[in-house]
Amino acid sequence: MKRAHWGSRVGFILAAAGSAIGLGNLWKFPYITGVNGGGLFVLIYLGCIFAVGVPILIAEMAIGQKSQANAIRAFEVLDKPKSPWQGIGLLGLLTAILILSFYSVVGGWILNFTVFSFTGAFDNLTTQNAGSLLEGVFSAPLTQSIYHFVFLSLTIGIVLSGVKGGLEKWNKILMPSLLIILVFLFLYSFSLKGSAKALSFLFSADASKLTASGVLEAVGHSFFTLSLGMGTMITYGSYLSKKENLIKTSLMIAFLDTSIALIAGVVIFSVVFSFGMEAQAGPGLIFATLPTLFHQIPGGTFIGILFFLLISFAAITSAVSMLEVMVAFISEKFKISRFKATSLAGFATYILGLLTVISTNIGKNSFQILGTTNFFDLFDKLTSSYFLPLGGIMISLFFGWKMSDSIKNNILKAYPKWMVQLFLVSVRFIAPIAVLIVIYNESFL
Ligand code: PFF
Repeated sequence: MKRAHWGSRVGFILAAAGSAIGLGNLWKFPYITGVNGGGLFVLIYLGCIFAVGVPILIAEMAIGQKSQANAIRAFEVLDKPKSPWQGIGLLGLLTAILILSFYSVVGGWILNFTVFSFTGAFDNLTTQNAGSLLEGVFSAPLTQSIYHFVFLSLTIGIVLSGVKGGLEKWNKILMPSLLIILVFLFLYSFSLKGSAKALSFLFSADASKLTASGVLEAVGHSFFTLSLGMGTMITYGSYLSKKENLIKTSLMIAFLDTSIALIAGVVIFSVVFSFGMEAQAGPGLIFATLPTLFHQIPGGTFIGILFFLLISFAAITSAVSMLEVMVAFISEKFKISRFKATSLAGFATYILGLLTVISTNIGKNSFQILGTTNFFDLFDKLTSSYFLPLGGIMISLFFGWKMSDSIKNNILKAYPKWMVQLFLVSVRFIAPIAVLIVIYNESFL
């Protein structure tokens, strides 16, 4: 079977950026920053992105590009048949389905809010009842399941239309639009009276507010937001011709991804501090703050509609990359068509997602595992704090120690020696050891 390839260099960069930029930046980063007290959490997250995230991003893409194979077979191609390193890919597959199952439900909430913005549901909101819309969504499992279905169907539709046709085309228009409107909201947020407080919340470190599990959450989020640790970037790298400059591309993606998260953070917390809202509101944070903002802003209805549409799109391009990990593996391993593989993976993800749907209502307090009480929190914690960082460590070890020097020299040959050394020290030692220490600290001390 001949494998598909990206149509252009820009197409690849946009698709990889499209995978990285998603709910992780616009929904998750603001809310976990709020829960973990701001500044110091943000600092650790930024440190991780550049010290650990970027080297692993380069390693993942290089593994995909060199092997031209899916996230599991890649390790057989580069090591040997039945290589134990394939375990990385298998763990990635499990992680992909777990994350996509709740990601799609949250994507459904965003779609639901897009509809709200069309129907004028934000018009009667006050600061006091800003959370009521999401509470309404939480208490309606059937509606959530329908939006979850719509979100996943859109994702499936794009995956089915293939690498070049669907994804590349839409990314080229919609990602820049998202950036433009976000920058507009960012500039507007400086006219709000809470903006100075937002900046100091986000950028001044206060050690008293951060716990060990907060540190692990910051490390885990740097993987989540860059789509690392589960083979997504291996898969996307495998659709790349063998000439691409991976270091420049990775730095660009990390820079874009981080900027968008920080800009979203400034916007959301300016609203929080201007209207006396709760910074620690949790997963509902943007669903209370954004409608409040659109209520304020001139032309807010229109901007609200546009913004929720664009967040939906950003979420779908990330979801597509998760589904693609499963589809590339299933269709190649079992030699079945993309259509069959996509339907199969999509169906399984949908069913698993129903566990997240009930986590906001009837199943809210179902058990006590790892400090979580429902499937939504459990899947999130398991994947972000454990599976992605563990996958990332193994990928960086594989790349740093197992891939032959010729490969490394090939990828890195255009760079000064000191940079190459720095990169190798990072993938061989710094990234794996740092992540292990953090996991150990949180789990055993
Ligand atoms: N990076 C995506 C986001 O920030 O929303 C989420 C994600 C996509 C995580 C793909 C992991 C992944 F493999």
